[in-house]
Amino acid sequence: MAAATRALRSFLNANKRIADAIEPRLPQARHDLQEEYVDLVGRLMNERDGLVVVDVGAGRRCHFAHFRDPAKGTRIVGVDVSAEELAHNTDLDEKRVADAQRGLPVGDEEADLIVSRSVVEHLEDVDAFVANAARALKPGGRFVHVLPAKFSPHSVVNQLLPKRLGRRLVHTFVPGSEGRLGFPAYYDHCYPAGLRRVLRKHGFEVEELQVSYYQSDYYGFFLPLYLASVGYELLVRAARAENLAATLLVVARRP
Ligand SMILES: C[S@@+](CC[C@H](N)C(=O)[O-])C[C@H]1O[C@@H](n2cnc3c(N)ncnc32)[C@H](O)[C@@H]1O
Repeated sequence: MAAATRALRSFLNANKRIADAIEPRLPQARHDLQEEYVDLVGRLMNERDGLVVVDVGAGRRCHFAHFRDPAKGTRIVGVDVSAEELAHNTDLDEKRVADAQRGLPVGDEEADLIVSRSVVEHLEDVDAFVANAARALKPGGRFVHVLPAKFSPHSVVNQLLPKRLGRRLVHTFVPGSEGRLGFPAYYDHCYPAGLRRVLRKHGFEVEELQVSYYQSDYYGFFLPLYLASVGYELLVRAARAENLAATLLVVARRP
């Protein structure tokens, strides 16, 4: 039994090594929107002195906090529905426990930036969240979010699987994903047309909406699945079918 487990593990590892070698050659894998989000928020939060940044669903880490320029007096307020997740976070200036759909625990027009990474897909009511953000942002303030999109194959499977099974599969096949992946996801309005519509409804100007099609790294453990996914991504990318993208980066401004 132990020998069979070892053989399976080494087979999966060999598949992953080949997938990792292919990845840098793929056009759809060259553009990492999560990195772009971190750089963008890092730049925006140092644009002027004394900005208030609200990191929604801050979780265990604030990925842009290392860009904070101490001379600028930027304040990062982390909001999360889970006190347990926030307890791990040492990057924040302040922590506030709240459900971002029911209300953001910041004053009217207090925030300069309302941002999140891998959080919007976990909200059942994105309309309510956007309404709360419109209230909490100063005029000219920005709403910057990076999120997985609703109609990518991975997200569709995630929506079809029972939530507990989905979480177990992610934690088994993506080592180190606890606290990062596996929270229940709803993908409400999480596609370009849906996001643009809800942002405009609440008076935002959509300045930028970037898409990325790459997500085959989830399937690196089994090469045939990885290659099938890579082929699908190349097709939807060539067709510019942005509502089928895997990841979105949205930047909107409160006029
Ligand atoms: C995948 S984690 C992302 C954590 C962090 N932003 C990061 O990039 O590492 C999602 C986080 O969103 C939080 N979350 C989920 N629903 C929320 C809600 N309604 N209001 C506030 N936070 C929420 C979860 O508790 C979790 O910490």
